[in-house]
Amino acid sequence: MEPQIGKNNNQPLKSLEDWEDDLVLRYPEPKGKQTKSKASYRNYKNSDRVDTVREFYRLNHTYQTYDFVCAKEKEFLKFDKKEMPFWEAIKFLNTLVDDSDPDTDLDQLQHLLQTSEAIRADGHPDWFVLTGFIHDMGKVLCLFGEPQWAVVGDTFPVGCRHSDKIVYPEFFALNPDSQDEHYNTKYGIYSANCSLKEVKMSWGHDEYLYQLVKDYLPEPALYMIRYHSFYAQHREGAYDHLLDAHDREMFKWVDKFNPYDLYSKVPVAPDVKALMPYYEDLVAKYLPTALRF
Ligand SMILES: [Fe+2]
Ligand SMILES: [Fe+2]
Repeated sequence: MEPQIGKNNNQPLKSLEDWEDDLVLRYPEPKGKQTKSKASYRNYKNSDRVDTVREFYRLNHTYQTYDFVCAKEKEFLKFDKKEMPFWEAIKFLNTLVDDSDPDTDLDQLQHLLQTSEAIRADGHPDWFVLTGFIHDMGKVLCLFGEPQWAVVGDTFPVGCRHSDKIVYPEFFALNPDSQDEHYNTKYGIYSANCSLKEVKMSWGHDEYLYQLVKDYLPEPALYMIRYHSFYAQHREGAYDHLLDAHDREMFKWVDKFNPYDLYSKVPVAPDVKALMPYYEDLVAKYLPTALRF
């Protein structure tokens, strides 16, 4: 009999944050770099979550095919779903309610602010701070009815062989592309060091937000947004054979960004009200007043 996992079979995670918490377990912060303020991280060892994350990846790896990505691009890159001022989109994102304990979990806005404030505290340029602040906005996909496995999770190239460096690689046996000779070789439909510009990634909040803001931010910011969940590359180097020299240069920024995303979570809520004037100016400097989703 199948074990009972999660709240339902299509949306196994109790909270989208469960995926991110699992990443911190998989890629713990290097010992010497941990700060005192992070000593009170919540306890990530939760066997329930292990099961739901596993089920989440089973769905993700089964259904994220090349054709699926093409279909989602067609559906979402028309940007005809909704037009919203930036701040309304943030509010919209904050309506993403989850089943986890509301007392211990910060909302999406607070998570974004913790990331961006950690970047700001280290003295990085303002577009880098803005990148931290918006990097998960693509999660609005959830509010358009998309299943979790098509919004979050590690991303990976489609159209070529799945690396065994991707988390839970065994589930790719369930993905029809792994039986398709066009897609199941080392290069698949791509060629050696063709550059990531040529490569389609599994569909989710990273690619969606990249497409949404690509005209407004400098290139390093766009790489950080587009590839921040591509752990098989930025942590494992599993797709070096598809990157060109320019990608490699740009991935230095993706590497720089990742610790802020993974390790900036602290249980203390940021002072949203006090921070707002700074972020209102920052958003106005780079982004149009209304965004089309
Ligand atoms: Fe993310
Ligand atoms: Fe994030």
